[in-house]
Amino acid sequence: MKKNVRKAIIAGNWKMNKTRPEAKALLEELKPLVADVKGVEIVACVPFTNLETALAATEGTNIKIGAENCHFEKSGAFTGEISADMLAEMGVEYVVLGHSERRQYFNETDETVNKRTKAALAAGLKPIVCVGELLWERECNITEEVIARQIKLDFFAISAEDVKKCVIAYEPVWAIGTGKTATAEQAEEVCAFIRAQLAKLYSEDVAEAVTIQYGGSMNAGNAEELVSKTNVDGGLIGGASLKAPDFTTIIKAAENG
Ligand code: PGA
Repeated sequence: MKKNVRKAIIAGNWKMNKTRPEAKALLEELKPLVADVKGVEIVACVPFTNLETALAATEGTNIKIGAENCHFEKSGAFTGEISADMLAEMGVEYVVLGHSERRQYFNETDETVNKRTKAALAAGLKPIVCVGELLWERECNITEEVIARQIKLDFFAISAEDVKKCVIAYEPVWAIGTGKTATAEQAEEVCAFIRAQLAKLYSEDVAEAVTIQYGGSMNAGNAEELVSKTNVDGGLIGGASLKAPDFTTIIKAAENG
């Protein structure tokens, strides 16, 4: 409906992949391929150990760098954790929060996703907040209930002004890393539902302003159809973001989408 008012964002989520030399090589390959891209925000969310390398490799380019998580406290006795301030100080712009792998393997909950989102916003980072239903939940026909609950809790007590700085990634858990993509219709249906929830919790204006991505086995072959949908404003890409030509094809699809 109002796709022209929102920025398309294509973000790569590298997960636990790439050493520093490999990260540099991937970004060096990507840079010339996407140098002429306009109208799409390109983001690479990389492991903590690659942040400095990635920031140096992309300096002065149209590729922004993100982290894959941050802790909700400012500092302190949290061995192994990284704060939002530490990321912001480096020049990191985005941070993925509440990814289903974090929820599933590291016991993250909507409560801690909410706290992390607040911490990221306070540090000036742009959170990419992930929501999505399990296969079992879809089969039980409670996808909308699950998503509504996640949106309500993950953004609890976050102002309209701050929500506008967030990106929401709809990632059906059954589609992540499985090669099983949601159909474009399923993606559109849930992304539109998320937008309707934002309108209910905030306002029509906020709902229209927030970029909502689809994620889950998005690739060079299916990106065009997915991003052509009114409420799908881009993608959060795992596997396919590790191959520069494939990631470029997805970015170019969003440019035309
Ligand atoms: P995938 O991962 O593209 O490899 O399915 C998506 C994600 O986890 O963000």
